[in-house]
Amino acid sequence: MGAHRLRLSGPADREAVAAFLTAHWGSPQMVLCGRLFDLRDFPAIVTEPMGQGLATFDPETGELMSLDADPPGAGIGTSLVEAVAAELKARGHAVMRVTTTNDNLDALRFYQRRGFRLIAVRPGAVEVARRLKPSIPLIGAHGIPIRDEIELERDLG
Ligand SMILES: CC(C)(COP(=O)(O)OP(=O)(O)OC[C@H]1O[C@@H](n2cnc3c(N)ncnc32)[C@H](O)[C@@H]1OP(=O)(O)O)[C@@H](O)C(=O)NCCC(=O)NCCS
Repeated sequence: MGAHRLRLSGPADREAVAAFLTAHWGSPQMVLCGRLFDLRDFPAIVTEPMGQGLATFDPETGELMSLDADPPGAGIGTSLVEAVAAELKARGHAVMRVTTTNDNLDALRFYQRRGFRLIAVRPGAVEVARRLKPSIPLIGAHGIPIRDEIELERDLG
């Protein structure tokens, strides 16, 4: 699985996955398209040893639910995306999707450089999401107000 040692999470990782997600996003809960998801309920690709990166995904819908690399810029995010793409492809998915927010210019650059293209913008979706998860900050990366969801898709064929 790429240059980094990665593995699929198991039931024993549940608390460590929750701690990682809480450290990076405030809680293991995430709002997507107006629905609250608990990312502990999804499979994850994790680094071995744990703590340098984590990607959760939905094997039913083909959605990359979360992606974090720590430290950034070391290739971990790329390895995680490729590992999730391989998992989804093996499960018969033709595309994988991911949603990010309007402030996350680093992620928009990162995903487009890795074969994703923009397929939808949901204006105001984060304002709706904040009612379900009030800890979502008002201001995000680069001082940009976080307001909108941007969806991207990558062909796995
Ligand atoms: C977006 C993210 C997952 C990318 O993972 P990563 O491990 O940093 O990605 P990589 O190192 O594989 O590649 C990052 C690219 O940015 C460049 N880069 C250089 N310095 C960087 C830095 N400090 N931070 C991020 N990227 C950097 C890399 O050279 C690489 O460029 P390339 O596209 O020309 O190859 C990661 O930065 C991250 O965890 N961000 C915070 C959480 C987040 O926003 N997640 C996505 C939300 S859906």
